[in-house]
Amino acid sequence: MSDKKFYITTPIYYPSEKLHIGHAYCTVATDAMARYKRMQGYDVMFLTGTDEHGQKIEDKAKEAGVTPQAYVDGIVDGPKGVRDLWKLMNISNDRFIRTTDDYHVAAIQKIFKAMYDKGDIYKGTYKGKYCKPCESFWTESQLVDGKCPDCGREVVDAEEEAYFFRASKYADRICDLLTNTDFLQPRSRVNEMVNNFINCEGGLQDLCVSRTTFSWGVPVDFDPKHVVYVWLDALFNYMTALGYQNDKYNDLDKFWPADIHVVGKEIVRFHAIYWPAFLMSLDLPLPKKVYGHGWLNFNGEKMSKSKGNVIDPYMLSERYGVDALRFFLLRTFPFGSDGNFTNELLIQTINTDLANDLGNLVSRSTAMSDRYFGGDLTTGGKHEPLDDELKALADEVVGKYETAMEQMQFSVALGEAFRLISRANKYIDETTPWTLAKDEANKPRLLSVMKNLCEAIRVAAILISPVMPSTAQSIFDTLGVPEAGRTFEAVSYESGDDCFWKTTTAAPLFPRIDMEKEIDELNKILDDAKKEAEKAQKKAEKAAEKAEKKADKAEEESGIISIDDFMKVELRAAKVLEAVPVEKSDKLLKIQVDMGTEHRQIVSGIRAWYSPEDLIGKTIVVVANLKPAKLRGEMSNGMLLAADIGDAASVIFLPDEVPAGQRIH
Ligand code: MSP
Repeated sequence: MSDKKFYITTPIYYPSEKLHIGHAYCTVATDAMARYKRMQGYDVMFLTGTDEHGQKIEDKAKEAGVTPQAYVDGIVDGPKGVRDLWKLMNISNDRFIRTTDDYHVAAIQKIFKAMYDKGDIYKGTYKGKYCKPCESFWTESQLVDGKCPDCGREVVDAEEEAYFFRASKYADRICDLLTNTDFLQPRSRVNEMVNNFINCEGGLQDLCVSRTTFSWGVPVDFDPKHVVYVWLDALFNYMTALGYQNDKYNDLDKFWPADIHVVGKEIVRFHAIYWPAFLMSLDLPLPKKVYGHGWLNFNGEKMSKSKGNVIDPYMLSERYGVDALRFFLLRTFPFGSDGNFTNELLIQTINTDLANDLGNLVSRSTAMSDRYFGGDLTTGGKHEPLDDELKALADEVVGKYETAMEQMQFSVALGEAFRLISRANKYIDETTPWTLAKDEANKPRLLSVMKNLCEAIRVAAILISPVMPSTAQSIFDTLGVPEAGRTFEAVSYESGDDCFWKTTTAAPLFPRIDMEKEIDELNKILDDAKKEAEKAQKKAEKAAEKAEKKADKAEEESGIISIDDFMKVELRAAKVLEAVPVEKSDKLLKIQVDMGTEHRQIVSGIRAWYSPEDLIGKTIVVVANLKPAKLRGEMSNGMLLAADIGDAASVIFLPDEVPAGQRIH
C-alpha cells in the first residue's frame, strides 16, 4: 500500500425523500475525485452515508404511519433506495455511514459529554417564536408574514431550556481560517460566509445544540429529555466512520484529518464555521479543505417536490446509461457555480460529445484497423511530423487535466480530454487513411496512422476513466490495452512505432438519440410527475384539513371553545316587565321582558324559588338568539341566566343602570 493517503467525503444525505439529481451530482463528482486519486496511486478512503435524525424525518414517518427507523430503512436500504442508487451509478465509496448506526449514536453521546465537561457546551434558555399546534420553535426570520411557516397559524414568544455550544469562543480562529488560508474553496464562498454568517469584527453567536420539542435524535445521556442537535450529530460522522470514540473502525490515525469535504453551497456554513469550531473545542485536527459546489436548477427553477420538477437519477441512468449521465453532469456545469439542467442540454451533450466525438473516433479507428490490418497493428510504420503534433497536444492536455482535477474543475479537465479526442478526429481527416489504403506502398504510413490513433484514444480513455469508468474499460478492451497501459503511470503518449495493438470492433459506445422524440418522452415523464405532485399536494391539503377538523373536534370535546364560538351566543340585558305562573305547571314562570328594541316572552323553570315580585323591575341576562321553544303550550323566546346551586337556582341580576338590550360578553 502506498503511503500517499486521501480521505474524501460527500455530505450525508437526509433520507426524508428519495434522492434526486442534485444529490447524484455531488456524489458523482466526489466519486470522480476518489477514482482520480486512486488512479494516481493514493490509498483512498471515500465516505458517504445518510443523516437520519431530526424533526423532518420524524414528521415524514408519522405521515407515512411508520416508525422513523422503518421509514429511513426503506429509503436507505429499500428497493431503488440510496444504496441501490449509488450501486447503479457506479459510486466507489469505501464506507457508508448511517447516523442511526449504534456505534455512531454512542460516539455522539460521548462527544457531547466531552464538550460539556470541557465547558464548551452549557445549559441556557432558548428564546424563540413557538407554534403550539406544530410544537415547533422558529426564529423571527423563519416566520412567514409573522406566522408559522408550516401551518400559517399565530406564533407566541416562548422559551425552553437548551444546551448551547460556545461558538463565540472560536470566532477569531474561524475567521483566520476562512480569510487567511485555503481551507474553504472556491474562494467566492469565503465572502459568502464572512458577509452573511460570521462577522469577523462582531464575532459569532453561541449555537443551540439540543432540542426538546421532538425525540427522534441522539438523546443527551445525562439529560435525556434533550436530543442532540442534528448538525452536531451529523458533522461528526466524518470521524466516527473512521472509529472516533468507537471500536467499530480503526482508521482514524491513518485518514484523519480529511483531505476534502465536498458539500453543496447551502451547507458550507456548517462545514466551514461550526465543524471546525467543534473540532477546536476537542483539540482535534481540522480537515484540510471544504469545497462548496454550486446548485443545479431545472429549466431555471429550483427543483422541488411540490413543483413536480425533481429529476430522478435512476430514470436517467436507466435511459441513457450511467456513464453518459455522469459525464453530462461533470462536463456541463462548472463545479463551483450553479448550473441549469435542461433535457435538451443533456441529449445534445450525449449526441455531440459522446456519440459524435468520442464514439465515432473509437468506432472509426477500430473499424479501419480491422479493415486494413485485421486488427493486427504490429511493429513498424512510417513516422511523419504530424504525429508529433498529436503527441505534443496529448502531453499538453494531460498537464492541464491534472491541474484542473486537483482544483475540482471537472468540466475543464474533461474539456481537455475532449480536446485530444477532437484533435484525433482531425488527424483522421488530415491523414485520410482510406486514401492511403488504396496504395500498398503506403501501408507502413497507414500502420503508423492507425497506431497513433489508438494511442491518442488510450490516453483520452485514461483521462476520462474517473468520470466514465465503464466506458474507459470498454475502450481499453476494444484496443487490447494491457493492464499496465490503463494506469495513470502510463498516461504519457508513446509515439514509438514499436508498440503494437490488437484491436477488435465493438458496438457503438453511445448510440445517437433522436432529440425531438426523446424530448417528447421526457416531457411526458415530467408532466406525469407534475400531475403526481399536484395530486399529492391535494391529498396533503385534504389530510391537513382533516387533521385540523380533528383538532377542532378534540378541542370541542375537551370543552374548550374559541372566542368566535363564544361570540355566537348573544347575551343581552333585559328588564322584567311582568311575571305570572304557567297554568298546569308548578315549575314554570311566564315572564315578559323589555329587550330594548322589543318586548319578549320567556318561560323559565324558577317558580319554586322566585315569586313574580322578586323579578318585576329587575334587570336580568337573557340569551337572545336561542331557537324559540314551546313549554307547556307557551312560547319561550329566550332563556334567562341563573346559577344552579344545589337543588335551587340563583338568577343573575345586573345593576339597574345597565340599559335594556345591552350586549354582554
Ligand atoms: N444532511 C445534511 C448534510 C449533513 S453533512 C454532515 C443535508 N442533506 S441533504 O440531503 O439536504 O443534502 C444536501 C446536499 O445534496 C447538498 O449540500 C448538495 O451537495 C446536494 N444537493 C441537494 N440538492 C441539490 C441541487 N439541487 N443541486 C446540487 N446539489 C444539491 O444537507
